[in-house]
Amino acid sequence: MDGQKVAIVTGSSSGIGFETSLLLARSGYVTFATMRDLRKGGLLKKIVIKEEIPLTVSPLDVTDQYSVSKGIGSIFRKAGRIDILINNAGYGLTGAFEDLSIEEIRSQYETNFFGLIRTTQAVLPIMRDQKSGIIINISSGLGRFGIATNSAYVSSKFAVEGLTESISYELEPFGIRTIIIEPGIIKTNFLNSSKLARKARDPNSPYKNFMQNSEKGINKLNESGQDPGIVANIIKESIEDTNPRLRYLAGKDVEQIMEIKNKLSDEDFHSMLKKMGD
Ligand SMILES: NC(=O)c1ccc[n+]([C@@H]2O[C@H](COP(=O)([O-])OP(=O)(O)OC[C@H]3O[C@@H](n4cnc5c(N)ncnc54)[C@H](OP(=O)(O)O)[C@@H]3O)[C@@H](O)[C@H]2O)c1
Repeated sequence: MDGQKVAIVTGSSSGIGFETSLLLARSGYVTFATMRDLRKGGLLKKIVIKEEIPLTVSPLDVTDQYSVSKGIGSIFRKAGRIDILINNAGYGLTGAFEDLSIEEIRSQYETNFFGLIRTTQAVLPIMRDQKSGIIINISSGLGRFGIATNSAYVSSKFAVEGLTESISYELEPFGIRTIIIEPGIIKTNFLNSSKLARKARDPNSPYKNFMQNSEKGINKLNESGQDPGIVANIIKESIEDTNPRLRYLAGKDVEQIMEIKNKLSDEDFHSMLKKMGD
């Protein structure tokens, strides 16, 4: 593995993680496509045999400390180094705030936020010893602005943004870069695997109008989703960027909305999103 960079991608069973693992391996990165359910690694394994690319499917559940320590430890023993960690595993949770149980919110954070903390803390001692490394955290356009019926998901991504921005100061002196990727709407398994809060199904919920609008919105979004390959390309660009930045937008839609957001006051942006949701 001389001279080749070693990359770990979490949540590689589908969508952005799947495409990113493939793109990196096809570009010569020694890639560990990790997933919590190895039975979902069949297609990747077939491609590896056909194309003879440096990709290994390996187990890692980001919500399980033992699985993270064991998974990262075994990758390090095999590869001898870890250059890039891509924290991609995540899912959505829909429901008005008052309809969310604390358990549902906690589960959301266990994957989207604490999951990324576990994997990052597991690789940092290795990267510090190497005096180099890149941590890439997959946030979202919704890591920059909130929307109704998604407060748990949005706040988990805001937490990812705040954490990444803060640790960038601490890690820079050790030669470790941190990157935030903010995808727009991407056609993946995301909507299928998103959870609906139990109480949000209640027809007597005082927030049922929000849920109806949210469903209409989701159907529209389903049609306009972009290819996950777009995000994979931006991730690769961010790794190889000679003028590295902290944040990279991924998708035309998120570029457009952030351009508008940057020009408007919070109040005007709020009114605009409210009108779009009606
Ligand atoms: N799609 C979008 O529009 C969009 C927009 C902005 C940001 N994002 C973010 O992009 C990331 C990837 O999502 P995606 O769109 O590619 O959706 P996806 O196709 O549903 O992929 C999500 C991946 O995360 C994995 N995962 C979930 N819980 C896990 C756990 N405990 N341990 C390990 N892996 C776990 C899933 O594994 P299983 O197959 O086992 O469930 C799957 O591989 C997420 O962080 C998401 O928030 C997506």
